[in-house]
Amino acid sequence: MTTTSNAGVIAPEIIEGAEELSSVLEAARMRGATIGFIPTMGALHQGHTSLIGRARAECYHVVVSIFVNPTQFNSQNDFDKYPRDIDFDIETAFEAGADYIFVPSVQEMYPKDSASKVVVPNISSIFEGESRPGHFEGVATIVTKLFSIVGRCKAYFGEKDFQQLQLVRRLVADLHLPIEIIACPTVREEDGLALSSRNQRLSLDERYAAGILFHALTQGRILIEQGERSRQVIEAKMQEILSNEPMATLDYASVISADNFLQLDTLAGEVRLLIAANFGDVRLIDNIGVTVPMENQKGQQ
Ligand code: PAF
Repeated sequence: MTTTSNAGVIAPEIIEGAEELSSVLEAARMRGATIGFIPTMGALHQGHTSLIGRARAECYHVVVSIFVNPTQFNSQNDFDKYPRDIDFDIETAFEAGADYIFVPSVQEMYPKDSASKVVVPNISSIFEGESRPGHFEGVATIVTKLFSIVGRCKAYFGEKDFQQLQLVRRLVADLHLPIEIIACPTVREEDGLALSSRNQRLSLDERYAAGILFHALTQGRILIEQGERSRQVIEAKMQEILSNEPMATLDYASVISADNFLQLDTLAGEVRLLIAANFGDVRLIDNIGVTVPMENQKGQQ
């Protein structure tokens, strides 16, 4: 690799130890450097590289962590099948702009006898949390550990995992962590399918069928734009679209208030349309945001 765009380095520094990463970054901050941090579980795709690119543009040093976190998988099968290619990921992260790549072992992140867990109530037990018990406890715990290792930074998260993004915002605020969360737009394929590490596990037919997720979300948004304000009507429309795709098994298609996840009957303000479905044994999620206009409400002048 010959690029020198990454804060002047010609190869990424690969760090396995938490203490080493902390002290390298602390020394960099003492010299006045700003830190951008992108936590990942590897299987990097353009969604990740767009986060790394944004951090590269906004921060002096860019740190990417690659760690397949066992505690956030509620199925051993899902954990075992999670795609892993560390050499590809390191190369991809570096080419996208990372200058430090943190690749801890499970023992490093969860040393023998480690017992503490981070729980963010309420948001952890609905939607993804209801379908994947324990998932968000695992996410909150590993993200808190990573933030505490990296220290003061801007941390970049994709909006594709909207519930995760809101949970991380909550825990950063609750625990007074010196982290600025930067939310970045979902990157999509041509048919609208959100990029996800899980997409590579879809068969060709499932991949084709999975475009239905974005189609359903888009139709929901169009209904809102046309003046529909009933949550039930919009959810029913998205569910009906999914039910017409035999390869999809719908989990939920819902509309929530973006800031608090409440399911109000009459939509107002910033809302999120959320969807989750299985294609074979691959679970996919997606969402889009819609600002409900105050004017043009159905039945109003
Ligand atoms: O979004 C992910 O890839 C993971 O949930 C995260 C934030 C890296 C924690 O393991």
